[in-house]
Amino acid sequence: MADKNQEVMDKVISLCKRRGFVFQGSEIYGGLAGTWDYGPLGVALKNNIKNLWWNKFVENREDMFGVDAAIIMNPKVWEASGHVSGFVDPTEDGKQFNVMFKTAVGAGEEAIDSYLRPETAQGMFVNFKNVVDAFHPKLPFGLAQIGKAFRNEISPRDFIFRVREFEQMEIEYFVQEKDWKDFFENWREQMFDWMKEIGLPKSSIHELEVPDGDRAHYSKRTIDFEFDFPFGRKELYGLAYRTDFDLKNHSDSSGVALEYFDEESGERFSPHVIEPTFGVDRTVLAILSSAYTEDELGGEKRNYLKLSKNIAPIKAAVFPLLKNKPELVEKAREIYMMLKKDIPQIVFDDNGNIGKRYRRQDEIGTPVCITVDFDTLGEKPELADTVTVRDRDTGEQKRVAIKDLIKEIST
Ligand code: GAP
Repeated sequence: MADKNQEVMDKVISLCKRRGFVFQGSEIYGGLAGTWDYGPLGVALKNNIKNLWWNKFVENREDMFGVDAAIIMNPKVWEASGHVSGFVDPTEDGKQFNVMFKTAVGAGEEAIDSYLRPETAQGMFVNFKNVVDAFHPKLPFGLAQIGKAFRNEISPRDFIFRVREFEQMEIEYFVQEKDWKDFFENWREQMFDWMKEIGLPKSSIHELEVPDGDRAHYSKRTIDFEFDFPFGRKELYGLAYRTDFDLKNHSDSSGVALEYFDEESGERFSPHVIEPTFGVDRTVLAILSSAYTEDELGGEKRNYLKLSKNIAPIKAAVFPLLKNKPELVEKAREIYMMLKKDIPQIVFDDNGNIGKRYRRQDEIGTPVCITVDFDTLGEKPELADTVTVRDRDTGEQKRVAIKDLIKEIST
């Protein structure tokens, strides 16, 4: 079993490189442990994930406020947050090692030591007052951020699972203390909704109630959403009840009260926080490893990525049946240009034979392939202005009118 899983992992890593999803960081110099670079298809997949997330959790709601804070913050942030003293992992010989990346800001005598942020969360806590003053939101409301985080992990491993530079999509949702349990439950469900939306199989997701002593220093309750990765069941996302720990500590350290004024009760207080957190790179890995499928189609072995349409990096590929027939190429390019205006993630391909093109698109998870043939041009008059549309998963083909293609691709 373990070997089989390692084999799947190796196949996914090799596909990622071959097809341009993920490359080793600084590869020509032998790489740098814990860093990976996203290629054209990886960027597209990642952007689709981030856009879908932003759309769902920020733009489609009235209670969420987006921020994009600086990665390098005043070092006092990390003292107040508890990361300077508490964000440590044991090294092999038993010493505690702080996994924050240190950096110097400024030159010479003026330079101060700070850190690259190990979580995006603090960028939201320090902007709590700015958002409250500018927008006067009523509780409950949330701040959301997508961005890079850095951790000098002692042993980075498992491809893009544990890396030193990664991306997080995080929400700090502010509530009254008495309501924390309800909102914790509510966010738990929303996280499941999200995982369903991006096509992760429910049977591969497992909740872990993190016991006392194992939780992060700021958390009173944490659920980890673990996923069956090829290398085992490991943390994909987390949901934490951070209490008023962060706002209180930043109020105390900065001298700026990070409080909410409740008009009804006339009270001023630091709200409590529910924090759903989503790693982008682990999302990519969960999606790719669960979408990787091998089967037989028309008597031939193939492998393909069974990606949901909403996150597939390429939504459709357009082909002329034959490369050496200018009238087919011209018509195919015309259809491609027309579709690309509405759906930018479309490609044109006339390389190799049609079977090879299908396999190439299957391997990167393109949901449909559109082929222009002589019937499109009217060889059979009743089929004029129609094309074949091939489904990635079944390989089945049907004729669709050119004018209906946008609907066909987007639904
Ligand atoms: N603000 C809360 C927080 O940062 P965390 O559990 O330490 O909590 C949140 O990290 C998420 O970030 C994880 O669930 C995971 O998806 C991702 N993550 C954490 N460390 C990572 C690493 N070294 N490589 C890739 N992703 C990582």
